Amino acid sequence: MDTTTLSAVRRQISSAHGLPNEHYTSQAVFNEEREALMMAGWSGLAVAADVQAPGDAVPLTFLGIPLLLIRDRSGIVRVFHNICRHRGMILVDAPRKIEGAIRCPYHSWCYSTEGRLVSTPHVGGPGQNTAEGIDKSLLGLIEVRSHIWMDVVWINLSGDAHPFETANADLIARWAEFDKPLYHGGSDSRFQLTVNCNWKLAVENYCESYHLPWVHPDLNVYSRLEDHYHIEAPGRYSGQGTRVYRQLTDDKGGMFPDFAGLSNKWDTAAEYITAYPNVLLGVHRDHAFAIILVPQGPGQTVENIHLYYAQPDTDPALRMRNTTQWKQVFEEDIFVVEGMQRGRRTPAFDGGRFSPAMDGPTHLFHSWVADRMMAHRATTNACE
Ligand code: FES
Ligand SMILES: [Fe+2]
Repeated sequence: MDTTTLSAVRRQISSAHGLPNEHYTSQAVFNEEREALMMAGWSGLAVAADVQAPGDAVPLTFLGIPLLLIRDRSGIVRVFHNICRHRGMILVDAPRKIEGAIRCPYHSWCYSTEGRLVSTPHVGGPGQNTAEGIDKSLLGLIEVRSHIWMDVVWINLSGDAHPFETANADLIARWAEFDKPLYHGGSDSRFQLTVNCNWKLAVENYCESYHLPWVHPDLNVYSRLEDHYHIEAPGRYSGQGTRVYRQLTDDKGGMFPDFAGLSNKWDTAAEYITAYPNVLLGVHRDHAFAIILVPQGPGQTVENIHLYYAQPDTDPALRMRNTTQWKQVFEEDIFVVEGMQRGRRTPAFDGGRFSPAMDGPTHLFHSWVADRMMAHRATTNACE
């Protein structure tokens, strides 16, 4: 692999190039990134609101890996590999409520919602439910490390990342004022977009406000280019903020209630941050949102979008208006991320250049990718 090209990404912004084409088009590089960027650290998988009540279980495929998101009987959200310890059968193949145990449909081995193997019928022959060598205490479901913050279920598939609170300490501190109950708006406050682009293009576009005047003319009317500021935490997260957030109102002037105890800054500010690698977050005085990017392959990404409020019983009509407004904004971005993806099919593209004034947060993301990939390649090559 050509690490010289990645070196060009890590230069200072005025002379840096963007990531080479193969980071958007090649299955081999996608697989490397899957390990180096997604599995090695904390990636967003879903939201805790996807499993509201004890026993709720949702099978998910993330990076090709079959996982099971479940809220156990005691209310703890857990993530397991969605496979039976007997012959590897998929345990749950559609969202459902687990009433008793998770029963494998193949030979009926049963697991508790906490992952314990509780029964192995006829495993020692007809009528014999135990067998030598089959130690139930060693054959529970394989759990994936997980952590919930901003209602996002973050997972560390490699199992050896620093604890989430350490890895993301400064972002957690930055938004400490929002570290309080976030209420998912329910079925009117979630939607999904499938975009034909690499997941990184969605991140890169989200990080910058440079495109606002041309891609989001409606937003730009009140939140202009000059009202925005960069958010830059090298190696961890980046994004942008606005100083002129305006609350949505209904016909009678009604608004969403504010999150309690916010400082003055949030009277008019809003911030939009990518927690590397794949979670796009937004906070405002009266609502927040999370977008989980689920890579489907080098050229396709599913975006799962969820909106949150300060109280559980907000006005459904106003909520719907908010969802519609954000959906419009995110749909306006599709043609540019898909256009950039198509552009990466020409070998003439050299990764492009960055505006030193406007593209800082995007360049930081590129540098993070380049750093991680170079470190990953150094270890993989050293092992060969
Ligand atoms: S594969 Fe699950 S019980 Fe046999
Ligand atoms: Fe945009």
